[in-house]
Amino acid sequence: MKKTLIYLAAMALMASCSMEQQTESQATATPIEAGDIIQLQTPSKQGGATINEALWNRQSSREYANEPLTLEELSGVMWAAAGVNRPDGHLTAPSALALYPIQTYAFLESGVYLYDATTNTLNRKVEGDFRHLATLQDFANTASLNLVYIADLSVYEGRNIDANKITVLCGMDAAGYAENVNLYTAAYGLKSITRGGAKAEQILSLLQLDTTRYSFILAQTIGK
Ligand SMILES: Cc1cc2nc3c(=O)[nH]c(=O)nc-3n(C[C@H](O)[C@H](O)[C@H](O)COP(=O)(O)O)c2cc1C
Repeated sequence: MKKTLIYLAAMALMASCSMEQQTESQATATPIEAGDIIQLQTPSKQGGATINEALWNRQSSREYANEPLTLEELSGVMWAAAGVNRPDGHLTAPSALALYPIQTYAFLESGVYLYDATTNTLNRKVEGDFRHLATLQDFANTASLNLVYIADLSVYEGRNIDANKITVLCGMDAAGYAENVNLYTAAYGLKSITRGGAKAEQILSLLQLDTTRYSFILAQTIGK
């Protein structure tokens, strides 16, 4: 009798686990609905490979399928890059002097979006497919996501930091964002590459950003 009860309890647990898995796997394939605002999902505290597995898997990829990310994947990537992870509003990536000069633009087929970490949204700045501007290499033109890291140099005003040092700091901040993404993609079976090459002048012009204040720092391709 006791054995039967244990067996029934185990079966019930397995059934509930399998239902959870089903719900999870269904929930992990939400298509991205292109609009002026893409509300990203709340990042999970669980999931992905271990940090060691991610480090073992990390590598740069230069071949991508023309296949969109799911909303879950896009949400995870954006949060890894520059998401809020503490009540004080600080981010997943560090920033020199906590000045956060880096703005993260997502180039999707449906437009160019600016990531807002506080609302966890992507806000469209320009409609249309401009992924080709985010790169000098053809493989990125049709990969589902390209990130462009642009520094707002005004955050350094009044800090008495020389221009060369500011350039280095911006590069380091952006590299932290990008490497967070590289580890996230490695942990979730996605591909990515950090890239220095992009059509920087055209990007700044498209986004109507003042070149005395904003500077292209780094780009990145993410996809499958
Ligand atoms: C700051 C930075 C800029 C890079 N720029 C490019 C680039 O423009 N194009 C490219 O194909 N790879 C670029 N890479 C990727 C490197 O070529 C790559 O990391 C290197 O070959 C080592 O390969 P792995 O990342 O697979 O270990 C860049 C990497 C870094 C860190």
